[in-house]
Formats: sequence, C-alpha cells, structure tokens
Amino acid sequence: MIIAIDGPSGAGKSSVAKAVANKLGFACLDTGAMYRAVAWQALQNGIDLNDSEALGSIARDYKIEFGTAEGEAIPRLVSISGVDVTNEIRTAEIDKAVSPVSADMSVREALVLQQQRIGRTGNYVVEGRDIGTVVFPDAELKIFLTASDEERARRRVLQNEARGVGSTDFEEVLADIRRRDEYDSNRAHSPLRAADDAILIDSTNFTIEEVIDQICELANKKA
Ligand code: DC
Repeated sequence: MIIAIDGPSGAGKSSVAKAVANKLGFACLDTGAMYRAVAWQALQNGIDLNDSEALGSIARDYKIEFGTAEGEAIPRLVSISGVDVTNEIRTAEIDKAVSPVSADMSVREALVLQQQRIGRTGNYVVEGRDIGTVVFPDAELKIFLTASDEERARRRVLQNEARGVGSTDFEEVLADIRRRDEYDSNRAHSPLRAADDAILIDSTNFTIEEVIDQICELANKKA
C-alpha cells in the first residue's frame, strides 16, 4: 500500500509521514531530501544551477541512500555517494538552491523513477509535492496537508532550533516559505497541487498527533 502525503513547505509532512509510517509499520520516503541531496552535490561540484544536463547526470549517477542512526527507530540519515549530508541539506543555502534543481525536468525524471522503484518494494508512506499526482497516481490513500503560512513558518523555526541548522528568524523563514510556495506552485513541471482524489487536511488548528491519528484512521479504513 502507498500513502501519498503532499503539501507545501513546512506543513508538517515530514514529521507526520515518519510517525504515520512508524505507527502502521510502513517504510517512509522523504522525496524532498532527494532533491536537496542533488542540490547539495551540484553546489559541491560547482555546477551552474541552470545546467540541466549536469544536474540530470548527478540525479542519475549519484546514489542517494537513507539510513537509521544508532539507537533510533525511524530512518532520518541521508547520504549521496556515501557522504552523509543529513544536516548539510537543511541549510538556508540549500533551501534556495533546491528550487531551481527541483524545477529541472531531467532531475525530476531521474528522481521520480528512483522513487517509484523504492515505493514498489513494500508498504510506503511517501511525502513530497507530486506524489499523488505524478509519482504514485494510483496510491491507495492520498493526503494533501496544508497549514497557514504563519503557522508553517512558526513550526519550521521550532524545527530548525531543535536541529540546530537553518534560520531561526521568523520573518526570514516566512519569506522563504512564501518564495518556495510561489516557485513550487508555478513551475512548468509537476507544480504543487492536490490530486483530484486527495483528502485535504488543514493542520493549522490541529496538533501533529491529531493529524497522525486522522491519517492512520483513514489508512486503516482503506486496508
Ligand atoms: O519537502 P522539502 O522542503 O524538503 O522539499 C525540498 C524542495 O524540493 C522543495 O522546494 C520542493 C521540492 N520537491 C519537489 O519538487 N518534489 C517533491 N516530490 C519533493 C520536494
């Protein structure tokens, strides 16, 4: 079974997806981390972020892997070509670089293929922007998770504080969230939008636990 969770930056997709997967005994795939890893590698290699051919070959040739830290139950480590980039992909620099990288068609083609290959190996919660529309249009359950801009910025600041990476300035984070929403929603390829058969959940006034319970309940009904 595939549970697709899409939505804008900072809606809580990552935390919700990981917790839902943990509760249901599913694996979890953070597709945003894959775009971030490609952006990180592109900056490392000094590639022009408009060079589609060079970006595409990174997405095709560099292996992106997920791992579990010792003593933790939920996988959250990300590596590209064997280099651990778990923290490096969460910086403000990558927040900016990932927009043109994820708008690139050759990057998307390569990563979507990998995501489909991974998802077909078992029961997965897959989170991103185009999971219900492009990557798994036949997903058994599709959720489109949103929250107000301000609430998403507030949560992102708390998350950055907890991780010790990324900006903790509310106005800066809010501006970046709005910039990325605009970019993700208006790009030519796979713009952010809810699938017609997605269930919309606005998490502004719910706790994360309430959202997790709602999705698990929906998944149990489908099963
Ligand atoms: O979810 P996130 O903030 O880690 O995603 C990073 C970027 O990647 C974001 O700007 C949108 C893009 N993205 C995408 O285009 N398609 C996906 N399936 C996941 C993320």
